[in-house]
Amino acid sequence: MNKKIVKKNKTTKPKYKILFVSSELHPFAKTGGLGDVCNSLPKALKALHQDIKILIPAYPFAIQKAENIKQVATIDLPGEGFPGKLGLPVDNDKAHHVNILETKLPGSHVKVWMVESELYNRPGTPYFDDKNKEWEDNDFRFALLNYIAVEIAMGRTSLQWQADIVHSNDWQTGLISVLLEKEYIRKKTTRPATVFTIHNMAHMGVYSRERFDTLELLPTLWNHHELEFHDDFSFIKGGLVFSDRVNTVSPTYAQEIQHEEFGYGLSDLLAYRNERLSGILNGIDMKEWNPAKDPMIKKNYSIKTINNKPSNKTALQKHFKLPQKKNTLLLGLVARLVYQKGIDLLLENMEDILKLPVQIVILGSGDLELESRLHRWSSKHPEQLQLQIGYDEQLSHLIEAGSDAFLMPSRFEPCGLNQLYSLRYGTIPIVRKTGGLADTVVHASKENLSNRSATGVVFQETEGSTILDAVNLTCLLYQNKDAWKKLMINGMKQEFSWKESAKQYLELYTQAIEDRNKYKIHSSL
Ligand code: ADP
Ligand code: GLC
Repeated sequence: MNKKIVKKNKTTKPKYKILFVSSELHPFAKTGGLGDVCNSLPKALKALHQDIKILIPAYPFAIQKAENIKQVATIDLPGEGFPGKLGLPVDNDKAHHVNILETKLPGSHVKVWMVESELYNRPGTPYFDDKNKEWEDNDFRFALLNYIAVEIAMGRTSLQWQADIVHSNDWQTGLISVLLEKEYIRKKTTRPATVFTIHNMAHMGVYSRERFDTLELLPTLWNHHELEFHDDFSFIKGGLVFSDRVNTVSPTYAQEIQHEEFGYGLSDLLAYRNERLSGILNGIDMKEWNPAKDPMIKKNYSIKTINNKPSNKTALQKHFKLPQKKNTLLLGLVARLVYQKGIDLLLENMEDILKLPVQIVILGSGDLELESRLHRWSSKHPEQLQLQIGYDEQLSHLIEAGSDAFLMPSRFEPCGLNQLYSLRYGTIPIVRKTGGLADTVVHASKENLSNRSATGVVFQETEGSTILDAVNLTCLLYQNKDAWKKLMINGMKQEFSWKESAKQYLELYTQAIEDRNKYKIHSSL
């Protein structure tokens, strides 16, 4: 058959112009998994030949890490609008100017646009000052990002680029879909299709009526079907109500949030939008998290050279000044030390866990009370439990490589990335059966061990001592070196690259465009 004809008949993949908007982007700004996903998913979409641009705030620590950064555009917002009300500079034409800086995502051709504004020019993290206190104007700060995203997406800037799809992530970007729908209804112009990804329902961006008015959001949106949320308003609700498609980062969490326990007061809305709601499992950056090439660990290893892994255990014990015991089960934990991560469950069982032949290393920061309770256990049992408070990228890699098992007793977990890193590093994840943890780790039951599907230890209840039982079981499994090795190798063979998930996002974009064309979002706009 003629080659040309074969080519013609092939279905061509869509090529979309995607504006991907987030408050975090590794390596420029990261406090958790959101930063990782906003780095690795766009790269995977680029590999599928999509025209993707990422938009984030130009935090000073982000600018500092960016190579060849240059200003590529200035965008004017009406100064009598909310920028003027906030006291931001307005020129003679009553416009507030915002610069767009451009750089690339390291190791890729993905363009990153950063919004430069004095609202972002502060030390600390994207959300907190350097004393760990939340900026009290985060609503204004992220609303600015949303307004700028709309200008770019609508093609009204000198960037000469217009989006087919706007992909927003978490509450900080929740108003974009609202503002785009307003463009469509009020100005009768077409608008890009909108996709909103929930990385965490626990953070909803809730602010007062007064702030709502300052933000110049239409007063008609103040009703409980739209932005109002128990006499305040919520950014995330904007994303959930007004986006053509909503998704979250694992199939199980997509179900869980439709129930009261996980929906934070929005479960009915999510259940109502059920046909537009889906779950797509996060992938991981297979280059950055690759034990065979990871420059941040002591000794590289793969399935074939798995005997090199223990050198990392020794290095980790050294780092934490723990006795260098080769045959004691070393448990690692890297996390934001908050309620979500089940740190309190661990603490409640700590006394009994430390009676087992284990060592524990913890890296993280967060809730001060949880931190100090961990400190107390550590000073009581320094030869068994060591703690490093703070954020340390390099050490997080060494913990994944050097630990025998990894603790993730999360109360809820939309997806979770650390259990995926653990599997890749031959480190057995001990997880609670929730959200993405339930979707990615297979429990080491007798049956699963014998049919070789087991990859970790899974426990269910938050009450009582099930975490203790899980650690106990892990100790028993660890005693049988052959069985343990099989478990490690089975985990290392799992496939959690972005390849499949990125394809699912592409389908989601196609569905979002179809929905935008087919259905009118029921709104007061
Ligand atoms: P979440 O986004 O809820 O915090 P994830 O498991 O999705 O949880 O992702 C957490 C990411 O943040 C991982 O890449 C993890 O290694 C990283 N991380 C969390 N705390 C720290 C820390 N203290 N130091 C270094 N990396 C951390
Ligand atoms: C959130 C969730 C986490 C998820 C991450 C990336 O912060 O807590 O479970 O992996 O976002 O999607």
